[in-house]
Amino acid sequence: MEILRIEGLAKIFGSGHIQVRALEDINLSVSKGDLVALLGPSGSGKTTLLLCISLILEPTMGKIVFDGQTIFQKNGWAGVDMRRVRREKIGFIFQSHNLIPFLTARQNVLFPLDLVGMNGEQAESRARELLEYMEIADRADYLPSLLSGGEQQRVAIARALANNAKLILADEPTAALDTTRGKRVMELLKKIAKENQSAVIVVTHDVRMIEGFDQVIHLKDGRIETEKTNAQN
Ligand SMILES: Nc1ncnc2c1ncn2[C@@H]1O[C@H](COP(=O)(O)OP(=O)(O)OP(=O)(O)O)[C@@H](O)[C@H]1O
Ligand SMILES: [Mg+2]
Repeated sequence: MEILRIEGLAKIFGSGHIQVRALEDINLSVSKGDLVALLGPSGSGKTTLLLCISLILEPTMGKIVFDGQTIFQKNGWAGVDMRRVRREKIGFIFQSHNLIPFLTARQNVLFPLDLVGMNGEQAESRARELLEYMEIADRADYLPSLLSGGEQQRVAIARALANNAKLILADEPTAALDTTRGKRVMELLKKIAKENQSAVIVVTHDVRMIEGFDQVIHLKDGRIETEKTNAQN
C-alpha cells in the first residue's frame, strides 16, 4: 500500500541569474514498509528532497500525496495542518546534532510524545520500550554529550519512532559513525521498516549500506537517474 507519492516535483532556490534548480521532475512512489535509499553526489539535491518530503521546505511545483492526503499541489500547500502531519506521522533522523543537549536520552524521547499530548506513566513506559528496542536503555539518564556517536544516533532513532511515524526520514544517519556502528544503525532502520511497516527513506553516500533495500534512487543534478539496465551497459 502506497504511503507517499511524488509527481513532477521541482525546487528552485533564488531567482534570476542566481537561480539554483535543486530538484527537477522528481517522481516516486513509496509503499508501507519500504526501505528506500537515496544516493547521489554532493549537491545533487538529496537533503532538499528530504526537506520537501518532510514538509519543512516548500517545493516550487509538483505534487505530494502522503497517506492518501494531497499535501502539496501545483504551487502551494493544499490547506493541510502541516505541523500536525509532521508531529503525528513523520520522524526525522539527521546526520548529527540530533538531540536536545540539555535533556537526557529518556527526556529526548519523551519530548515528541509530549507534543502529541502523551505524558505521565504512559509516556514513560513508551520511552522505556523504545530505548530498549534500540538497545540503549542502560544509558537512559545520560546527557547526549556523554554518549558515543552511535549511542546518540540510536537515541535519535528512538525519538523519531516515538510517535509511531508512518514515514521515517534519515539524512546520512551513519555518516558520523564507523562501519560497524553504521551497519548496526542501518540494521535497526531495516528492522523498523519491516516490523512497524513504516516507510524509511535514508540518504547515504555508502553503497555498502544499502543491501536489502527495496528501492535505490540515484539523484544527479536534481534529477532521478534512470536505472541502468543490462542492455545499456
Ligand atoms: N537554501 C538554499 N538556497 C540556495 N541554494 C540551496 C539551498 N539549499 C540547497 N541549495 C542548493 O541546492 C543544491 C542541492 O543541495 P542539497 O543540500 O539538497 O544537496 P545534497 O545532495 O544534500 O548534498 P550533500 O551530499 O553535500 O549533503 C545545491 O546546489 C545547493 O547549493
Ligand atoms: Mg545533504
